[in-house]
Amino acid sequence: MPTKILVTGGCGFIGSNFIRYLLKQYPDIQVVNLDLLTYAGNLANLQGIDQSRYTFIKGDIADASLVDRVVKDQVEAIINFAAESHVDRSLYHPESFINTNILGTQVLLEAARRYQVPRFIQISTDEVYGSLGADDDPFTEKSPLDPSSTYSASKAAADMLIKACEKSFGYKAIITRGSNNYGPYQFPEKLIPLFISNAIENKPLPVYGDGLQVRDWIFVEDHCEAIDLIRQKGKLGEVYNIGGVSEYPNIEMTKTILNVLGKPESLIKYVKDRPGHDRRYALNISKIKKELGWNPKYQVPAGIKKTIDWYLGNKDWWQKIKSGEYRKYYEKHYQGR
Ligand code: NAD
Ligand code: TYD
Repeated sequence: MPTKILVTGGCGFIGSNFIRYLLKQYPDIQVVNLDLLTYAGNLANLQGIDQSRYTFIKGDIADASLVDRVVKDQVEAIINFAAESHVDRSLYHPESFINTNILGTQVLLEAARRYQVPRFIQISTDEVYGSLGADDDPFTEKSPLDPSSTYSASKAAADMLIKACEKSFGYKAIITRGSNNYGPYQFPEKLIPLFISNAIENKPLPVYGDGLQVRDWIFVEDHCEAIDLIRQKGKLGEVYNIGGVSEYPNIEMTKTILNVLGKPESLIKYVKDRPGHDRRYALNISKIKKELGWNPKYQVPAGIKKTIDWYLGNKDWWQKIKSGEYRKYYEKHYQGR
């Protein structure tokens, strides 16, 4: 019998890359994708996949009766990507972050425990650790949780619920904390796809504050490979950091994108900073390296070139998004900044 894996949020950026990865790597895997199709979920992200091993269910991970029915049906693993994922949007509508990221995770976790699903992987983020100073050592899995935004606080709450479930009921899940991802199918509200697409259209690139905030960038394929390894060989009850070991200040990243595209730096526009803006993220990945032998394959220049090629070759995909509901958000968030 094929192994059935429940992926939630599989119509989003990382989830869709992960489904593509699974179906390509394993001929015997059956994927069930539970996704609410919020503004960030896009059926086009999965166009061309092998439909014979794929089932799509439109629904909310916080819908307990739906989740019960889906999980009851003998799933081997649940990989929970479903989330409200954009820090800036969490400034405007925190409730949906609480509903999906906290309540939704709890509902999934309860069902996983009820049916003793062998593996539950919670896709968390390095943002739960908060911000680092320029000279601080990168976060380890033992660093305290100290979130700064409603997004990261809601993700941290979910991590805590998973730990509580283990202590109270003995059901052990695995938490992964990834750094900033980039690559194909990323919704163009996040830094890299926004700046690539704006630059292609000769529109300004809005850099927050002084642009010296640092992120640790990981190419999405590397992230998917690490999650899959953890799905198979990760130890239950553990937390694994998954970082790209590629720290870049935002302004350097911006200039790299302009340079690869052959666009002028005059497109850079410094704008008012994001409230509560974390200065630096960086992850220590010794644990996953040592225990599972994983290392990222891509560094920023090569990964960014590959990503830019994808956005150049798939203008229809992002132009369609940028012409819809997105425009209202963009105007509200950036106008007069
Ligand atoms: P995304 O915003 O691109 O996609 C989220 C997906 O979840 C969408 O398809 C959306 O429709 C779906 N969704 C939202 N609410 C739902 C609900 N209530 N029920 C079912 N589906 C729902 O997000 P992403 O960038 O692909 O991130 C995926 C996961 O990885 C998130 O949990 C995020 O916290 C985590 N993560 C992201 C990054 C990053 O850089 N993007 C880094 C580390 C961790
Ligand atoms: P983002 O892609 O939103 O990811 P996160 O906030 O989860 O790290 O932003 C990455 C960095 O880029 C972050 O420091 C904020 C900055 N940024 C800008 O300077 N301008 C923008 O328009 C956006 C969207 C982000």
